[in-house]
Amino acid sequence: MGGVTESRKSDGIAAAVEREYADLSPLQVRMATHTEFSERPDDPAGRVMHLLGLPSGRSLVDVGCGTGYFLRLLAENGHRGRLIGVDLSPAAVDEVARIPGVQGVPGNAEQLPLPADGVQLCTALYMLYHVPDPVAALREFARVTEPGGRVAVLVNHHRTTARTMDWVREIAERHGADLADSGLNGVTSDTLPGLMEEVFGEGAVRATRVDNALAIPGPQPLIDFAVAALTFCGVSPSFPGREAVIRDITAEAHAWFSTPGRVWRDPKGYVVCVANVG
Ligand SMILES: C[S@@+](CC[C@H](N)C(=O)[O-])C[C@H]1O[C@@H](n2cnc3c(N)ncnc32)[C@H](O)[C@@H]1O
Repeated sequence: MGGVTESRKSDGIAAAVEREYADLSPLQVRMATHTEFSERPDDPAGRVMHLLGLPSGRSLVDVGCGTGYFLRLLAENGHRGRLIGVDLSPAAVDEVARIPGVQGVPGNAEQLPLPADGVQLCTALYMLYHVPDPVAALREFARVTEPGGRVAVLVNHHRTTARTMDWVREIAERHGADLADSGLNGVTSDTLPGLMEEVFGEGAVRATRVDNALAIPGPQPLIDFAVAALTFCGVSPSFPGREAVIRDITAEAHAWFSTPGRVWRDPKGYVVCVANVG
């Protein structure tokens, strides 16, 4: 019985992830919002590069590479080792394959299409919380990384940007959206260090926590960010009430900002865990 429930939950996560990343433009909007409207300046990709000593001559696979932002940064900054991007989304694989010097490979983190000890470094940024079996994925990261190599995983804090997500979910629900399949498995910065120690061994993992907030100064960037989160709130591009949901988001954002001087503050943060592969 538990097995059936678990497998339904996995199917739900996988379907939500497939819907969400069929088109990468909402992800691009969310990334741009974080870049432009973070309360404290932060550069998560730069932080991961620093923690791994990048760029370098070491081979690297980025699992769940999305738009290829991280791989592009490495390629453009003179990384000399082999660069591979793996993603479930065909749109992501196409995007990454266009970056000179980067190989795009379709694949699932739970069963990577790479040989054992095939790379020296493995990164997985903002993706492990989408994988139905995160421990299976971590075991795969360990398998494909050669001894002496390193694995870096970045996930968000529990209830990151919860103010915006709760607001959007409330509007979506009002219009009949089904909130059941959020595409998330519950891995957060609180649970990731323990999961990684389970796989890589006690003492093999170093965690760096970063706390921040979105600070959005006006209605339009808030509307853009909210609309870019809709698929996670049961409002896919084909949802019949989507236009009505967007109308409510727009009206409520304008109403909230009609008081002068307001800033929409929404706490967020992440952890980067780096494991040494034994
Ligand atoms: C939030 S995006 C992050 C993209 C990129 N890592 C970044 O930092 O911008 C999550 C990405 O993980 C991919 N993804 C989700 N589950 C996956 C899985 N099981 N295997 C491979 N890729 C997956 C999605 O298709 C999407 O491109």
